[in-house]
Amino acid sequence: MNHKALFEPTQLGPYTLKNRIVFPPLTRQRSGQPGNIPTDLMAEYYRQRAGAGFMITEGTQIEPRGQGYAWTPGIYTEQHIEGWKKVTRAVHAEGGIIFAQLWHVGRVSHSALQPEESAPVAPSAIQAEQAKAFIETGPGTGTLVTPSIPRELTRSEIKDLVNLYAQAAKNAISAGFDGVEIHAANGYLVNQFISEHANQRKDEYGGSVENRLRFLDEIVQAISHAIGPDRLGVRFTPLFSSTDEDRVYIGLVESDPHKTYVEAVKILENAGVAYVSIAEADWANAPDLPEAFRREIRAIFSGRIIYAGRYTAERGARMVEEQLADLIAFGRPFIANPDLPERIAKGWAFNDLNSSTLYGGTGEGFTDYPVYNGQR
Ligand SMILES: Cc1cc2nc3c(=O)[nH]c(=O)nc-3n(C[C@H](O)[C@H](O)[C@H](O)COP(=O)(O)O)c2cc1C
Repeated sequence: MNHKALFEPTQLGPYTLKNRIVFPPLTRQRSGQPGNIPTDLMAEYYRQRAGAGFMITEGTQIEPRGQGYAWTPGIYTEQHIEGWKKVTRAVHAEGGIIFAQLWHVGRVSHSALQPEESAPVAPSAIQAEQAKAFIETGPGTGTLVTPSIPRELTRSEIKDLVNLYAQAAKNAISAGFDGVEIHAANGYLVNQFISEHANQRKDEYGGSVENRLRFLDEIVQAISHAIGPDRLGVRFTPLFSSTDEDRVYIGLVESDPHKTYVEAVKILENAGVAYVSIAEADWANAPDLPEAFRREIRAIFSGRIIYAGRYTAERGARMVEEQLADLIAFGRPFIANPDLPERIAKGWAFNDLNSSTLYGGTGEGFTDYPVYNGQR
């Protein structure tokens, strides 16, 4: 098998990447308590995976209201910045390039996670009935819950949020990150604004595609101004399906995903953003992205394009050869195989994933997956 295409260096913004293999954002819920501070163990976990050409952190909340799951890390206090420095130093010592994923869950939260047990905030007061938040029920233990009914953001609160994104981007640079990624995927706040289901606003942030993309556009502008568009990427989940199963998964199926996400990518192109990352539907029997959509994204966007979602090395290499993708992310395989790029290059077998240790816990299933030992 020839995966050579995955090992050609490429440029992303100001950075030269050593290969096309991406370690994507993966929530692991192991930040230090109290305060959701990145730990030494997290630094070790990222260090182990720095063979990736490009890495993005797990979703990292930009403010207290942005949290929807217990123990996810933040990037809005001095302590957070100090904690993340451990991660960025460890990755840079291994020659890695790492961006922070800036996350605000919006309505996918529970009042138990919110300051003063308030309602979560969202574009409209529409509950995310099909999603789940995760609350702590004791030290180190917790449970999935239906998100609370959110409260609609005012226009001035939306402006404040745009500033919080820009501040978080500056914090990320202070923490030593090479850039940031806006999490506009998977049904969280930015995706809620884009969605005609979650967003039923009557002002300039709701209604037309242009209006629903305004929040994204303002965040892109603010972060570009704060740290430069060449250190910014954006992640989307365009969903080309309206089956019940897909609605249950994310609840945010667009009536015209092609138009919506082509317009979204045009915003990134106009701003000069370094990359767009497309998180494809990744459950069993998930709908494929139409080839015409992939081709159009390539035609209109001059930055790097990343795809993720159940890729094998073969399929990823083919996408790069066909020039539909520049970079391919491997999520679950990279959790279980810290030396994934080397395993792909040499054709070595992969470790199996332990699904029971994905979220929360200790170093088990986190930093103890072995590198290849030649005997498997
Ligand atoms: C445990 C886990 C946590 C995830 N957390 C995030 C996250 O914080 N942010 C995000 O954008 N995507 C997240 N994802 C989605 C992954 O980045 C990726 O798109 C997905 O796992 C599909 O790739 P794969 O099939 O190679 O695993 C998560 C996925 C998993 C399995």
